[in-house]
Amino acid sequence: MTVAAPGQLNFDEVPEGCRGFDCFEKLRLLGQGTYGEVSLAKDKGTGELVALKKLKLRKEENREGFPITAIREIKILSKLRHENVIKLKEIVTSPPRNQTDDAGDIFMVFEYMDHDLTGLAQKSGAKFSVPQIKCYMSQLLKGLHYCHANGVLHRDIKSSNLLINNEGNLKLGDFGLARTLSSKDHHNAKLTNQVVTTWYRPPELLLGATKYGPPVDMWSAGCIFAELLCRGQPLFHGATEPEVLTKIVEVCGAPNEVNWPGVSKLPCHQNFKFEQMARRQRPLSDIFRHCDRHALELLERLLTLDPSKRISTKDALDADYFWTDPLPCDPKSLPKYESSHELEIMEKKRRQHQQRQHHEENAAKRQKPVQYQQRIPPSHQQSGQAQAQVQPHRPIHGPQAPVAATPRQRYEIKSRRPYESKPRRSSEGASRYYQNRGSASGWGSNMRGGNRNRPY
Ligand SMILES: Nc1ncnc2c1ncn2[C@@H]1O[C@H](COP(=O)(O)OP(=O)(O)OP(=O)(O)O)[C@@H](O)[C@H]1O
Ligand SMILES: [Mg+2]
Repeated sequence: MTVAAPGQLNFDEVPEGCRGFDCFEKLRLLGQGTYGEVSLAKDKGTGELVALKKLKLRKEENREGFPITAIREIKILSKLRHENVIKLKEIVTSPPRNQTDDAGDIFMVFEYMDHDLTGLAQKSGAKFSVPQIKCYMSQLLKGLHYCHANGVLHRDIKSSNLLINNEGNLKLGDFGLARTLSSKDHHNAKLTNQVVTTWYRPPELLLGATKYGPPVDMWSAGCIFAELLCRGQPLFHGATEPEVLTKIVEVCGAPNEVNWPGVSKLPCHQNFKFEQMARRQRPLSDIFRHCDRHALELLERLLTLDPSKRISTKDALDADYFWTDPLPCDPKSLPKYESSHELEIMEKKRRQHQQRQHHEENAAKRQKPVQYQQRIPPSHQQSGQAQAQVQPHRPIHGPQAPVAATPRQRYEIKSRRPYESKPRRSSEGASRYYQNRGSASGWGSNMRGGNRNRPY
């Protein structure tokens, strides 16, 4: 295991801030995140490809100065140097566009990565082998180990923030929600729980904890592992925070004072009927029955409800999973894929959705209503209207003939998650098990990347 030791932060190499945006030729949009716009660009001097992340400075923020979250992202990234952490190369600025625009734009310049994990996993034909999954997981854990050993919590580990290049290297990206934390702070700090995108958010944050530490990232790493084992399907997908928590309880069981001492004191604990939620339990061993016992053991230790019992990066890297055949492969031996990022996948899905809608509309226009020809004895035969007058409560048309599933219905049947035994219903689940008593954990807030404008 080769990771940098604590204290090996990059204090000497500080990104330069004097070059202008015009040193780069913008090629195409790579990502449109909540907090920035990322483009592929070429360094005009060297020809090197880079990713430019434009910082979104809202007007109000502009007046008050540079947003604190951007300062934190730059400060943290400029100190981290590790092969599994994205490299911030420099900061460049563009001049104001017009007279009313007094600030211009600020860009973070990153090394370019060919893929993010969302894009790669969903790319048609990309099926990960076991050595490949081990290779990605060990790199994710090494990057996290370096961050944690240096007192940095990432707080937004998710597949679109894991960047991969065609050399097979995986690097942690998007430190927009990261913060530094000394080991003393773990017990005292009052941190926001509105961090980590909801599907990857650990149960302690969903229950409103404000004291937490590295185990929050370990939970998210467990969600990534599950996704890698399940061909890119997120394990705890839900439209709301209570829905995600319901999914967690169904898979990991109900939290109680026996398996998680102190859970009942968390702010939102009283809002949930955990025992009822756990009745529909579908344990990890069932969902991942296709995986070997070492994979299952690591997954269970990452997705442990009690954060104090959740496995650390160091122990995870020592897990049998990484030391038994088949071993993790050499990153360089991995197949090279055409570049793929979450944005392309989202746009492809949007196009497919539009096409489906268009197709359905056309199909509906073509489809004539099926008329049920009721045979009426000749002596009583009347027009439909006259008949309706005689029998006002009977429909003029008979029962509709069964109609084949529309392309959309067929898609919905097919798109059932591989580990779901029953088809999903949009209204299914969570609300039966919780009482929403206000906003202790900030429910209803940003599902995607937490709330970066809250105090930390
Ligand atoms: N260095 C890079 N090389 C290639 N693509 C990148 C790079 N950095 C980011 N991207 C792409 O841009 C997307 C958005 O970047 P990033 O996550 O840093 O921005 P964000 O605004 O914080 O996003 P979000 O709020 O959606 O998490 C990433 O998911 C990835 O697809
Ligand atoms: Mg991101």
